Amino acid sequence: MVKVAPSLLSANFNDLADAVRALDKAGADYLHIDVMDGRFVPNMTFGPVVFKNIRQITTCPLDVHLMILEPEKYIPHWIEIGADIISVHVESTVHLDRALSLVRSLGAKPSVVVNPATPIEWVFPVLSIVDQVLVMSVNPGFGGQYFIPYTLDKIRALQHEILRRQLAVEIQVDGGVTEVNAKQLVDAGVDVLVAGSAVFNSKDMAATIKALKSFQ
Ligand code: DX5
Ligand code: ZN
Repeated sequence: MVKVAPSLLSANFNDLADAVRALDKAGADYLHIDVMDGRFVPNMTFGPVVFKNIRQITTCPLDVHLMILEPEKYIPHWIEIGADIISVHVESTVHLDRALSLVRSLGAKPSVVVNPATPIEWVFPVLSIVDQVLVMSVNPGFGGQYFIPYTLDKIRALQHEILRRQLAVEIQVDGGVTEVNAKQLVDAGVDVLVAGSAVFNSKDMAATIKALKSFQ
């Protein structure tokens, strides 16, 4: 069964604690936390202070998507305060192997991310040292954007390479995921669906998560 990682970026921040508890109860597999610095992407979001509060009220694995420059500077702190999975963009560092190995050495799961226009082959050299590849299906920075269709071919090519090398690497997709395109994504090889607006703009978050998880 596919996993679902709701993105808290689309939550009402006045009721963040309620949202975290509700998602936990609704069967979220991970909570996806979008960290932005206003430099790598044109927006800013959660910092460690808010994250620590989230960590205190849930045992759900926290999946931290770093959209920041110089990620290696901040990785140790995010792990110290409770990140379970850390996603590092290939475009954000010239020392990708070092950054991913740092995540592993400090006890969290390394994940590598590519922007929509970045060739998927860029992650192939590090596939053997990560637990997850995150394929961005929108340009990172904002929730509520439309899915970019050509990213589907990248997901297929990635799945092909993972199967060819018999690796236990999960494929995550992030951006514009809905109940309408989820089946196509799962068929292409996705293991983890990140969903922000599709979950938070729905009338019943639990029903939407259940519906997304029902795709095989
Ligand atoms: C975008 C973020 C996403 C975002 C997804 O930069 O990485 O996680 O929250 O939101 P939706 O599902 O609304 O596209
Ligand atoms: Zn994200």
